[in-house]
Amino acid sequence: ASAEKDGFNSFMEKEIHDQPAAVADTLLGRSDPSGRLILDELRIDAAELKKVNKIIVLACGTAAYAGMVAKYAIENWCRIPTEVELAHEFRYRDPIVDSNTLVVSISQSGETMDTLMAVRYAREQGAKTVSICNTNGSTIPRESDAVLYTHAGPEIAVASTKAFLAQITAAYLLGLYLAQLRGNIFSGQIKDVLADLNKIPEKIQTVLDNAGSLRELARSMKDERSVLFLGRHVGYPVALEGALKLKEIAYIHAEGFAAGELKHGPIALIDEGQPVFVVVPSPRGRDSLHAKVVSNIQEVRARGARTLVIAEEGDEAVRAYAEHVFYVPETPTLLMPLLTTVPLQIFAAELASAKGYDVDQPRNLAKSVTVE
Ligand code: G6P
Repeated sequence: ASAEKDGFNSFMEKEIHDQPAAVADTLLGRSDPSGRLILDELRIDAAELKKVNKIIVLACGTAAYAGMVAKYAIENWCRIPTEVELAHEFRYRDPIVDSNTLVVSISQSGETMDTLMAVRYAREQGAKTVSICNTNGSTIPRESDAVLYTHAGPEIAVASTKAFLAQITAAYLLGLYLAQLRGNIFSGQIKDVLADLNKIPEKIQTVLDNAGSLRELARSMKDERSVLFLGRHVGYPVALEGALKLKEIAYIHAEGFAAGELKHGPIALIDEGQPVFVVVPSPRGRDSLHAKVVSNIQEVRARGARTLVIAEEGDEAVRAYAEHVFYVPETPTLLMPLLTTVPLQIFAAELASAKGYDVDQPRNLAKSVTVE
């Protein structure tokens, strides 16, 4: 079994370390050197795809957070209104779906019953359905009009890691492809994004190589009872995913919040010693989001929180208010989740194993939930 784990103590650790390859393999062969997307597997008529006036992303769990990340990128590149909905909520609210709707389901297993039923429903309403899936020949891709496989390789640990990064990667490719098809963005811009995506695997490797201090921090926090996560823009779903990982495998109460929401409620939770992870947007980004999140760090710190910050290399502004800073390499804002998620996965895995838990087989959870 240890051979299957490549010498790691758990499949989850191995899969965290598989992530540079998971992203690289998902990108592989899907664009040409001139920066054109080639998604031949997307067997939906180009004319039909051009008519799409709304995208609905359906998924559960971690895959739904990949969908939330995808929304920021797809809307930015394609200018198509994009909703993300938990699959089990979708069909019970009489959603507005027609033949100009593109439903993108995201599922590692391709067998999640909630997601499958939502896809079936959408198809019955005439929507076009694309499945982003990690498991060849599974039910959801078979029941969809087209599939874009993630090439993360088999994921064994119940808590999803490499499939998540591969899902985000595949959703970006889909977004870029739609933008290319519809002429929304200049081909030069697509080429630039692809170049940045191609640099992601080695940057993930840098994150993995630098994780020592984070592991130490995780072990020192094994008796914590609650950990909060804040993020903004694409950092918001990352915060949700960081909290989910901790709940799933370390059984610690954890919650992710949109950083801007802090003052509207969650700040009441902050008292002396409360650990708060903050996923900080790039200081190079527009819209002064960086300054706003830095002031959130300051606000929680002033109320006694322990501030654990994930920031971009070179961001010195966070240092003054951070108890612990973990830096990730520079990348454009929309791609940041592919890097900022990784330290939160490592933190959860390390903390759970410090508690002596089986990180691969957390209590009460199944890898794939095939009942509604
Ligand atoms: C289960 C797993 C989660 C996963 C979710 C969706 O609840 O425990 O880790 O995110 O299902 O699974 P899927 O296979 O559809 O991505």
